[in-house]
Amino acid sequence: MSFEDPVIIVALDFAGARGALGAARSLNPAQCRVKVGLELFCAEGPPVVHALQGLGFQVFLDLKFHDIPHTVARACARAAELGVWMVNVHALGGPRMLEAARRAIPTGGPQLVGVTVLTSHSPEEVAALGLGASAERVRSLARSCHEAGLDGVVCSGREASDLQDLRTGGFVLVTPGIRPKGAAADDQRRTQTISEALASGADYLVIGRPVTGAPDPAAALAACLDEVRAAGARRASKNQEPL
Ligand code: C5P
Repeated sequence: MSFEDPVIIVALDFAGARGALGAARSLNPAQCRVKVGLELFCAEGPPVVHALQGLGFQVFLDLKFHDIPHTVARACARAAELGVWMVNVHALGGPRMLEAARRAIPTGGPQLVGVTVLTSHSPEEVAALGLGASAERVRSLARSCHEAGLDGVVCSGREASDLQDLRTGGFVLVTPGIRPKGAAADDQRRTQTISEALASGADYLVIGRPVTGAPDPAAALAACLDEVRAAGARRASKNQEPL
């Protein structure tokens, strides 16, 4: 973990700017990034992104675009104009959509990552959707993101270890569905703890309710950061790069 590149992205899934900015003010932008998702963006739009940037946070705009290539490309271009750090699209949109999205992001613009299979889906649900075995589907979708020149993928920590060969040229693995030890799973199904996800090779961890729903979000984030540091120390002791 470094101050330049914090590992944790706190999902600010709030109904409005008041809650989101209240939570953000209790956090330190040197220690985490924040994620603005569908609920908050539908309620508040670009001003809440700019307000969070004004507090010093780098923002992951998590709108998971999935539409025809032309529409997704134009949406990505508008998202890039917001000065966000990361944006995403659904990998299920297919190679032409992924390539159009990538071409729409200007040089020096946000990182573009593809969502593979939502971490809220159980393996049974993935099969029922006709997507086959979740691990194989995640791998094929991640490969199509890599081939289209995206900067990384969103996947469960459970699948991150299978994708290590794709982590070339700065291709990153972003993992939601993270639950600190003992926390409730909520609606997530393919969850991992912080140390499990980092041991699987995840680069960034998206954590929402375990931090934002805690009575003291700052203390909850501090506990998560302790777990990140402990995992980094374990990695360093195995002669790997510390986090
Ligand atoms: O509260 P929780 O930690 O479950 O929040 C996870 C966040 O990550 C949510 O904002 C959700 O939209 C997002 N996400 C996810 N699974 C994905 C992609 C994004 O849970 N595959």
